[in-house]
Amino acid sequence: MKEQELRELQNTLSWPEKIGQLIQLSGDFFQSEALAVGPKQKLGIDQDTVNLVGSVLNLTGAEATNHIQENYLANSRHKVPLLFMADIIYGYRTIFPIPLGLGATWNPALIKQAYQVIAAESRSAGAHVTFAPMVDLVRDARWGRCLESTGEDPHLNADYAKVMVEGLQGENLEGIASCVKHFAAYGAAEAGREYNTVDMSERRLRQDYLTGYKAAIDAGCKLVMTSFNTYDGMPATGNDFLLKDILRKEWGFDGVIISDYAAIQELVAHGVAADEREATQLAIEATTDIDMKTSCYAKQLEPLIKDGMISSKLVDDAVWRVLKLKNNLGLFEDPYRGASKENEEMNLLSDKNRALSRKVAAESVVLLQNKNNVLPLTPNQDKILLVGPYGDKQDLIGLWAVHGKTTDVTTLKEVLEKKLTSESFKFTQGCDMLDDYSFLGEFGATAEQIDSIGLSESQRESALAEALKLGEVADVIIFAMGEHTMQSGEAGSRTDITLPKIQQDFMNQMIELGKKKILISISGRPLVYTKEVNQMDAILQAWFPGTEGANAIVDLLFGDTNPSGRLSMSFPHNVGQLPIYYNEFKTGRPLTSKTHKGRFISKYLDSPNQPLFPFGYGLSYSEVLYNNLKLSSSEMTEKLIATISISNQSDRDCLETVQLYIQDVTGSVVRPVKELKKYKKVSLKAKETKTVSFELAREDLYYYKRDMSFNVESGAFIVFVGPNSEEVLESQFELI
Ligand code: BGC
Repeated sequence: MKEQELRELQNTLSWPEKIGQLIQLSGDFFQSEALAVGPKQKLGIDQDTVNLVGSVLNLTGAEATNHIQENYLANSRHKVPLLFMADIIYGYRTIFPIPLGLGATWNPALIKQAYQVIAAESRSAGAHVTFAPMVDLVRDARWGRCLESTGEDPHLNADYAKVMVEGLQGENLEGIASCVKHFAAYGAAEAGREYNTVDMSERRLRQDYLTGYKAAIDAGCKLVMTSFNTYDGMPATGNDFLLKDILRKEWGFDGVIISDYAAIQELVAHGVAADEREATQLAIEATTDIDMKTSCYAKQLEPLIKDGMISSKLVDDAVWRVLKLKNNLGLFEDPYRGASKENEEMNLLSDKNRALSRKVAAESVVLLQNKNNVLPLTPNQDKILLVGPYGDKQDLIGLWAVHGKTTDVTTLKEVLEKKLTSESFKFTQGCDMLDDYSFLGEFGATAEQIDSIGLSESQRESALAEALKLGEVADVIIFAMGEHTMQSGEAGSRTDITLPKIQQDFMNQMIELGKKKILISISGRPLVYTKEVNQMDAILQAWFPGTEGANAIVDLLFGDTNPSGRLSMSFPHNVGQLPIYYNEFKTGRPLTSKTHKGRFISKYLDSPNQPLFPFGYGLSYSEVLYNNLKLSSSEMTEKLIATISISNQSDRDCLETVQLYIQDVTGSVVRPVKELKKYKKVSLKAKETKTVSFELAREDLYYYKRDMSFNVESGAFIVFVGPNSEEVLESQFELI
């Protein structure tokens, strides 16, 4: 539709029709009128309101969306189609690894392909908008939503944000519209506790936390979701500074801002609005366009206009942004956008999509430890025993794969059974996932259901006895352990981030057998492996690896794929170190202090400062040597080239992620000890040596100076290059 026509259409809408465009309700409101009675009562709205609602939350499937759209349009006076928005975070039906795993690929080009697949699947299933990417930078593994983030680094996060948006939307929105979230700084919730306060300087906000959202906006992302947290005392959903000053004015974003789930109403609980009327006013004045899942806008906007409390233009502008989005998606021409059963059948879980998911999963897994090169294994050489709650479990897709199906997943046991002879492979579960499943009650499980989960006391005893018996005759024991799906994701904050105790107790007993031990760990966050690094020969961090996770893991175990994943988030020694991240600011008394000794330096009395596994870390089956770091000049005015030689010592091909960090030695404000600026994932043939070069430009060194201008001062810079943020070679130059 032409813009002029759209304007005319908007002018024909009544206030209730306009306001309807700004309301989002979930799928249950769109069932038959009789079935929707409960949800309507709960929200205190009537069918007339539902009939005017502009968008639907988390309802997908071509049959359902087409049916609802058809009915809606048939009964609508204005014929403005519904928008279907859903949480399609790391896969629609073909599930990829959780974003923390995607972060560990250090391969944005590959991740773009994954998001193209996600868009194609989602579009055929009737989704128009996805609430992705989630780009909240996170430095505290207690926060359960680490799962959804690509990690702790502003630069890497921004790279992923860009390709995710590009992959989802396509060049001309032939994919689905992307909604970046949660604006802003949601990942910095104090003490890693979900929905908690965020408070930080504007400098840190801009330097570290905003880069991901900005990259998504620059990539053309169509929507932004507000976050649940406060920033500088004001909840994001009513925060003028974040939404108006930064997002709208500075960044020029004229797309749709949607509140997070019930976040407008929560302005009352936050204590910045006395009631829903005030909450509505704060939110609309901050230019929050759509109210997700409350009746605030439905009930309060019109009276606010009538009473002269807000200008009608505020609402008209919001409506215009929503209509524009619908128009950009082509909904006025085709309200179904090609969603159909046939297209679903063609797209969902195709062999091609599965193959890509397997490749991405293999690149996401991080080999944390490999003593005496216990890995890779040789098929049918050793007697392998697979144990643990994830050994034969289909739930490898994690909490936020809401449209995925665990039944599509092949388990580790099934893959290994296919690959190996029955003499060389045995499986027994050996231990339960958790001691106690009662916390599932919070997620709606009944007492009866909780009782039926897991093993009874006597089953636990016999499971252990069986594992010990089979372990006696095995050469290698593979432990498939990890967090329960419900222990990460939204509202999955934890203060103990070790493997569940029952699993640890089991491993303690099994290691007494003295066999080779390999830990495959499934988790939605960095875990503390201080004990396991001593117990285990090898540790593979496998995240929730997705539909093809088990195949990918087995590819890695046997060396069909050489591990190449690198951590995008530090793994702490202990929870007391949190938050922990490599790019911390310099202190006056660093560990390396020359002026202060012993006690009076910045350190713990009972823990190292460094994490157990640093940012950027990950092993492969190839030893790669780094030599000869050279800078094209000892001075930089505009550009400089850094080169390094990397040499594969092994007989296998590998993928090596070369990382370049800088340190601004003296700034007008304190600067981080290291900052990632460049990286390349380089393929090396067996025994091959390559020279890798990076171009560093003046703009790469920009930061928010003392006066908050984004620029750089002349002076000394250190360049570090290496396989991770700690093991680096260094050189220095002077910026002129
Ligand atoms: C989450 C969002 C999500 C929304 C809609 C909220 O609870 O914070 O990430 O997009 O629900 O499901």
